[in-house]
Amino acid sequence: MEAMKRTADCGSLRKSDAGREVILNGWVHRKRNHGRIFFINLRDRYGITQVTVDTESGADDLAALCQELRNEYCIAAAGIVCPRPDDMVNPSMETGEIEVAATKIVILNKSEVLPFQIDEESKANEDLRLKYRYLDLRSAAMQNRIRLRSEVTFAIREWMTANGFYEIETPTFIKSTPEGARDYLVPSRLYPGKFYALPQSPQLYKQLLMASGFDKYFQIARCYRDEDARGDRQPEFTQIDIEMSFVGRDDVLSMTEGMMHHVFKKTLNTELPEHFRRLTWEEAMENYGSDKPDLRFEMPLKDFSPFAEAGGFQAFKDALLQDGAVKALVVKGRADYSRKQIEELEAHAKIYKAKGMAWMKVVANSALEGGVAKFFADNAAQIISDLGAAEGDLILVVADAKRRIANTALGAVRSKLGKDLNLCDPARFEFVWIIDFPMFEYNEDEQKWEAAHHLFTWPQEKYHATMERDPGSVKGDLYDLVLNGYELASGSIRIHDPEMQKKVFQIAGIDPADAEKKFGFLTEAFKYGAPPHGGIAPGLDRLVMIMSGLSSIKDVIAFPKNSFAVSPMDDCPSEVDQKQLDELRITMARETSLQNRQEQEK
Ligand code: AMO
Repeated sequence: MEAMKRTADCGSLRKSDAGREVILNGWVHRKRNHGRIFFINLRDRYGITQVTVDTESGADDLAALCQELRNEYCIAAAGIVCPRPDDMVNPSMETGEIEVAATKIVILNKSEVLPFQIDEESKANEDLRLKYRYLDLRSAAMQNRIRLRSEVTFAIREWMTANGFYEIETPTFIKSTPEGARDYLVPSRLYPGKFYALPQSPQLYKQLLMASGFDKYFQIARCYRDEDARGDRQPEFTQIDIEMSFVGRDDVLSMTEGMMHHVFKKTLNTELPEHFRRLTWEEAMENYGSDKPDLRFEMPLKDFSPFAEAGGFQAFKDALLQDGAVKALVVKGRADYSRKQIEELEAHAKIYKAKGMAWMKVVANSALEGGVAKFFADNAAQIISDLGAAEGDLILVVADAKRRIANTALGAVRSKLGKDLNLCDPARFEFVWIIDFPMFEYNEDEQKWEAAHHLFTWPQEKYHATMERDPGSVKGDLYDLVLNGYELASGSIRIHDPEMQKKVFQIAGIDPADAEKKFGFLTEAFKYGAPPHGGIAPGLDRLVMIMSGLSSIKDVIAFPKNSFAVSPMDDCPSEVDQKQLDELRITMARETSLQNRQEQEK
């Protein structure tokens, strides 16, 4: 290898290098044979260079060697950089002005026939791509995404460090403390019957670091949650975890804006607005039917209740009588939607618990037609004008006795239409802060109040006196950063006062003895002058996914799990040796071992 070590990479040679003797190392991307001349596109991380081999220009075995080369052989090629004749210049290649006329080729390693063609990633089945992930990662698309991820991570570190944040690692073996999802547990060998948990986030540790006086902390932190995978969810993922002392909500928000500004400018050369739009949770729910609205398009939900009261459609009236809501959505220029298309949208609304979805179309002369139009004929002109509709528009209406259902179901239809009608430009980045979230949510199944985000959020000052009496009305100092319809980050101002922490545990129905056992170390730390503090955690995977215009975080993670939390490449999770189980004093339930054996035999 030493003699054939590269002196240039495959992406950097230009016309100004003409005449240079170079050695390139890389993979055979394509090979064409034109009689005695071979054209080899040689690829590495930096690009592709065309290598030409005149088999009569070098050693005797050059022709045989070139014949032998197959795609993805790893080779070294030595030769001279030659400018291409004007009519052979390839403007779509960065190195398209030159080629390397090679006189020596060495095969560094052969490749078997590939399970799928590199660069045809989208066509290959996902499990096959994941099984041979190291090959999938060779494609230009994957290389670009991983490069962007690396650049984004670097830009984050650069900005955080320049702004006085310390990067501090926190443990990945921690005490199991409930945080929303199920924990991944690690059995302790030294203490049989006891377990470490992998952190769902470094939440408690970052708060403890504030108690220690570190003032500004960040960490590119791995988090682990045993929950069902989705496009934007993986069992292990990465957060840009941040915490600050002596701050209020607006300090955390403007710090995050500054960081995003730097990251987008540095990596995509995109200028973001200095401040992001803000919506209260209530505004987001009422206007977009979602706490993570995609604001690349407007299409807001409108209040239809004044017309519902006046009109003759009983289902709408019933919803209002039960203190519910009647909401409408104007779909511009879609009066041409067929009944089937409308039914598809209705089916979508029903996934979100709507009982149905009414519709009508705006026709000439300020009139409504079709669907429930006949019930509203008297008010047609007023409806059209108040909803901001015009001839050729489709109006969709959802009514429900539960305001939340009317909003979320129509909001889901809005999101679907955004995608169906191509209203979401992947090159646009629409950030929005959602603020003033409710602190507590009522769990109908368990008939109890629960923390809406996590238990450590500071209730806004104005609710302190009434929070125990009326938990449902309490707003927390809680915020989410939403980007293009995804929840990118969540955070809050935290409780630093042990008394307030106790109150919140109490409202959320956490037994004091249980709270002491699980979180005692945190409440204990608060007794020693812990400062007021707050923070946030943007998801790194989601950030890079959206920046890449994609909809699956798997595509921006080098070695992700599939949708069933399995890694087909190394077949993980896997069984372990009996000896390991014995050391941990773990005995499998009989059915489990049997089930595993049966699966193995399949
Ligand atoms: P939260 O649970 O909302 O907050 O998570 C913060 C952000 O992490 C990302 N995220 C995920 N990304 C991929 N796969 C997952 N399974 C996954 N779960 C979450 C999202 C999300 O917005 N400790 C708090 C933060 C804080 O209050 O400071 C927390 O973890 O982008």
